[in-house]
Amino acid sequence: MKKIFITGVSSGIGKELALEYAKQKCLIGISARREELLNDIAKDCNDLGSQIIVYQLDVQNREKCEKVAKDFLKKAGGIDCVIANAGIGGDDNLFSGSSKNINNILNTNIQGVTNILMPFIPLMKSQNHGTLVCISSVASYMPLPFHAGYASSKIAIRRIFDSWRPSLQKYNLNLVSICPGFIDTPMVKGPARNFPLKKANDAAVKFIHAIENRKNNFVYPKYYYMLIWLFNLTPMWFYNWFIKKMFSKPYN
Ligand SMILES: NC(=O)c1ccc[n+]([C@@H]2O[C@H](COP(=O)([O-])OP(=O)(O)OC[C@H]3O[C@@H](n4cnc5c(N)ncnc54)[C@H](OP(=O)(O)O)[C@@H]3O)[C@@H](O)[C@H]2O)c1
Repeated sequence: MKKIFITGVSSGIGKELALEYAKQKCLIGISARREELLNDIAKDCNDLGSQIIVYQLDVQNREKCEKVAKDFLKKAGGIDCVIANAGIGGDDNLFSGSSKNINNILNTNIQGVTNILMPFIPLMKSQNHGTLVCISSVASYMPLPFHAGYASSKIAIRRIFDSWRPSLQKYNLNLVSICPGFIDTPMVKGPARNFPLKKANDAAVKFIHAIENRKNNFVYPKYYYMLIWLFNLTPMWFYNWFIKKMFSKPYN
């Protein structure tokens, strides 16, 4: 039975990943801050034939992440895959005079990833197999006005994975960065909902396929590869001019 640990399972992509792995009858550790939601999802996963261990966890809390990982490894007797999915979006609050918002995004989306992945690495190394997954974003490929915290957090985790990969591959560990475009989850709010949205359950199926096929970097849906390529051809002066035109009125 495959042993999987996932963060951010109380909604969106994390929830759909847990339900998909449940169909494969895996033993799954599910975590997030909202425990009631996790308990409902655990019931649905049990109905699909999987075993679930629920953890109420804030990924910003390093000590708790270490305790949770230790407990899961003890109960499960090993680990095959850890998916650092928990993350938040949001505005930098650029003109607020405070770094509170942007730091919350950076801490959740960067430290929240290292906090949960690193406690699993020693055991993965000793058992000589395992997969680490981070949910980055297409936003990691371009600057995002007023969302610098989000865009930079997503490039940071991708770069962490690119840096760890050669050191961990010799212990047979795979590192998979998933870069979704817009997926229909509670995170996508306001004008962003005007973009074409992919269904979260379809995305979860594709992500699991990419994980099983040990992709280093997986962009979904595929047409974002074309947008990233076009963006890379765009001169920075043009991008800056375009953004200034778009946001010519005060933003916040
Ligand atoms: N939806 C998209 O279009 C899209 C695109 C690219 C990348 N992504 C990435 O995909 C991941 C999942 O996002 P989603 O779209 O599924 O959004 P979502 O529905 O809002 O889910 C986010 C999950 O993260 C958890 N979370 C947030 N802060 C946490 C914390 N401090 N500690 C523990 N858990 C925390 C939330 O649970 P609690 O609130 O219960 O803790 C929730 O389960 C994120 O990393 C996001 O950046 C999403």
